Amino acid sequence: MVDTHCHLNFRAFKDDLEACLSRASEVGVNYMINPGSQYDTSKRSVELAKKYDNLYAAIGLHPIHLFAMEVDEGEDHFATRAEVFDYEKYRDLAKPDSKVVAIGECGLDYFHLPPGRTIAEVRAVQIELLKQQIKLATDLNLPMIFHCREAYEDLLEVLQAEVKQGQLPQGGVVHCFLGDREQAQAFLDLGLLLSFTGIITFKNVKPELIEVIKQTPLDKIMIETDAPYLAPAPHRGQRNEPAFVAEVAKKIADIKGISLAEVDKTTTENAQRLFRLSSLSQAQRRL
Ligand code: NI
Repeated sequence: MVDTHCHLNFRAFKDDLEACLSRASEVGVNYMINPGSQYDTSKRSVELAKKYDNLYAAIGLHPIHLFAMEVDEGEDHFATRAEVFDYEKYRDLAKPDSKVVAIGECGLDYFHLPPGRTIAEVRAVQIELLKQQIKLATDLNLPMIFHCREAYEDLLEVLQAEVKQGQLPQGGVVHCFLGDREQAQAFLDLGLLLSFTGIITFKNVKPELIEVIKQTPLDKIMIETDAPYLAPAPHRGQRNEPAFVAEVAKKIADIKGISLAEVDKTTTENAQRLFRLSSLSQAQRRL
């Protein structure tokens, strides 16, 4: 399996990263993609990918880091610092030998609004930031990892226009997908993949999300933890970690009425194809 979205680059893993990596490999999680959420965590992700064979990096500026504000995310409460996107600095992180496999996570988030700003203002600034990162992904010929919260219609509108102009040639994934069936289909029509987290294992999961999984072909699905957040059942309430991605795979097998082996195999192939993991490890072997 591939945990296509976890944040081992975050402080939550500073004391036991290697224990988490060994628990992941014990359950068959062979690769992990660590997206950054701002420059510091993107840089940390690149450092970890250099140190550990089975880790890959994604670099990007998450929309909640555009403004300084307080964020409550499950048990985690943190203050963000406002960061201005520095195109050149991010591009420098993605050197050819860096194991940077995607730009992200980036996208739109209208759930976490900074105090004293209007939605129109936040929306305009976030869309501009997203377009800069689409340009970076296009320049570097990399896929993208999109974060989207309460903004699916705007994300679709931006991506449809960009794709029409030939941007985003390597596609991408809408991570932690929580939208409806029409939105899911519209992202699939753009050639994007959908990825699902432990939310699909929760008792109170929206029935429509289960329908989205039924309707989405397995070769368009990836699995992820979004660790340290969103621990799946039966670990809900604990810190999440890559080993728990197996629970997401099990739930997808259950929803689709197929074997766990098939989910593991196909979602792994999807991740290898999108992030070009196999060609990358071959390139590294040649070095
Ligand atoms: Ni994330």
